[in-house]
Amino acid sequence: MRVGLIGAGRIGAVHAQSLAGDPRVRRVDVVDADPDRGRRVAEAVGGHVADSVDALLDDAPDAVVVATPTHTHADLVVRFAARGIPVLCEKPVFADLATARRVAAQVREIGTPVQVAFQRRFDPGYLRGYEAVRSGAVGQLRRMHLVTADPEPPPAAYVAVSGGIHRDCQIHDFDVLRWISGREVVEVYATGANRGAGYIGAAGDADEAVAVLTLDDGTLATMQASRYNGAGYDVRMELAGSSATLAVGLDTRVPLRSVEPDAPPFAAAAWSGFLDRFAAAYRAEVAAFLGLVAASTAGSSTGLFGHCTVDDALQALLIAEAAATSRRERRPVLLAEVGNEIAPVVPVGTAAA
Ligand SMILES: NC(=O)c1ccc[n+]([C@@H]2O[C@H](COP(=O)([O-])OP(=O)(O)OC[C@H]3O[C@@H](n4cnc5c(N)ncnc54)[C@H](O)[C@@H]3O)[C@@H](O)[C@H]2O)c1
Repeated sequence: MRVGLIGAGRIGAVHAQSLAGDPRVRRVDVVDADPDRGRRVAEAVGGHVADSVDALLDDAPDAVVVATPTHTHADLVVRFAARGIPVLCEKPVFADLATARRVAAQVREIGTPVQVAFQRRFDPGYLRGYEAVRSGAVGQLRRMHLVTADPEPPPAAYVAVSGGIHRDCQIHDFDVLRWISGREVVEVYATGANRGAGYIGAAGDADEAVAVLTLDDGTLATMQASRYNGAGYDVRMELAGSSATLAVGLDTRVPLRSVEPDAPPFAAAAWSGFLDRFAAAYRAEVAAFLGLVAASTAGSSTGLFGHCTVDDALQALLIAEAAATSRRERRPVLLAEVGNEIAPVVPVGTAAA
């Protein structure tokens, strides 16, 4: 396959490695608004440089990976999908709801496969959580707790176009909440605080956030997000059911310490960030995307396990919108207020393929 990569920044450089390391890919063409950066990443993986996005489009690669800043995604997804070129697009696909609805409708109509890069669906721990809910090991799922805490905030320029902590950071948790529970969110109550750099508050964003969510079967979820977690990169989930309580991410590198005298020891080095915590998941999601491309070429593009669609991403964004409204207006917000238009995801009881 010939695969294009648009955007060679933090996450684009990771995807370049995954693409170049996959035996199905014979050529990677990299394009970045900063030509030097594009060249460096292309050289690092033995790839080629495309002169521009237009040139890449005209070259008609077999697939494209979009890893540019969030506000550029919608346009790129529609342009490539409209030419029949499958797209793996970084999360979030869209920063605002009007664009989300337009793009989701266009992608549905065009029919070209588009996968959204929610890599937690390919993380071994989250996958086990998914399977435990479906196998019955958890019993009836009653409560979920989800944490995403970065050690340091992104730079001001990133924050300004990111859509804010709910749409940029907690969106991962909104996606896995739906994917793992198999249910839809009906109500969100979120609040936040600014305890760090002034540019975050100035962008209307929060650097600490918590939320309480109610799912359509009565399951309750709590969430925490931070841009300033001094102990390290902390991404975890707890699933509490009538039969068992399971923890995802409670490994030896979790930046969490027990003060109990007989607590088990943890490794000294906590996870430093998403690049090391999710290295295997990033590779697996690119591999799954290449599988999707191959399947679509063979005439079948549905049913691939873990595949996050643009409609799934729209639903995650609706939850983020409700959270942003809740934080701003200091009240619980029903999803029905922002629109809950997509059918539920994989029903509980469906086996993982
Ligand atoms: N899934 C994850 O865990 C994860 C992690 C980090 C970032 N992301 C997402 O990936 C996207 C990129 O984030 P990042 O941290 O890599 O950003 P970044 O700023 O490090 O990199 C973005 C790159 O895109 C280039 N660029 C900007 N506009 C362009 C355009 N129109 N055409 C071509 N190149 C363009 C920039 O020059 C830069 O090199 C964001 O949407 C972010 O939310 C996802």
